[in-house]
Amino acid sequence: MRVLITAGPTYEPLDPVRFIGNHSTGKMGYALAETFAAEGAEVLLISGPTNLPDPSNARIQTVRVQTAQEMYEAAVVEAAAADVWVFAAAVADYRPAQVAEQKIKKAGETLTLELVKNVDIAAELGKTKRPEQFSVGFALETENEHAHALGKLQRKNFDMVVLNSLRDAGAGFRHDTNKVTLLDADGRITTFELKAKTDVARDIVRSVLARRLPQPH
Ligand code: CTP
Ligand code: CA
Repeated sequence: MRVLITAGPTYEPLDPVRFIGNHSTGKMGYALAETFAAEGAEVLLISGPTNLPDPSNARIQTVRVQTAQEMYEAAVVEAAAADVWVFAAAVADYRPAQVAEQKIKKAGETLTLELVKNVDIAAELGKTKRPEQFSVGFALETENEHAHALGKLQRKNFDMVVLNSLRDAGAGFRHDTNKVTLLDADGRITTFELKAKTDVARDIVRSVLARRLPQPH
């Protein structure tokens, strides 16, 4: 089994010393890489900038990128050969329309930045997904959680979406714990307790492996 995982934030440059980013640590994606590798999978981990070391497991190949565009280009090369795709990255939705060649100098009392939309990596790869491939997305929501997560499942052609609700204390960014609900394309909903991200990774990997095995009649 070959697994492609995106992880961490993306950094979108503004000038040589500044970027737009987010607080994703990459922990969830890295934990998924380790867990799939422990199950015997060959993993390609495409990671935005994180403070985590490259996983040492020989089954995990780590590719470092900065921007959404770079993450997309790295993913598109490997997507056709992978059996499972996991989109755990917190990809910047927009990037600065212009990257200044020199450091932007302080001038007026306000500064307006123009942003342009980034490529949606999961949605673009979703258009190329073959029936035997399995795609897993994440959704971080603060309201109408199930409806929004299922909307993403449909738009991005996911087979399963991992919902993080920010209403749950201890879940999401900057925590070592997470509380997730798995929603799948068949309408199945599984809710898990708050637990360590490494244990959440095990729950997700087990669910993916179970869905990919032929179901008993
Ligand atoms: N995703 C992606 N490329 C993007 C944006 C998101 O691959 N440019 C993936 C994420 O890795 C995640 C899923 O799509 O698996 C949902 O990301 P999310 O930010 O929740 O969805 P958006 O479609 O960007 O919607 P919004 O931010 O408006 O809620
Ligand atoms: Ca987004």
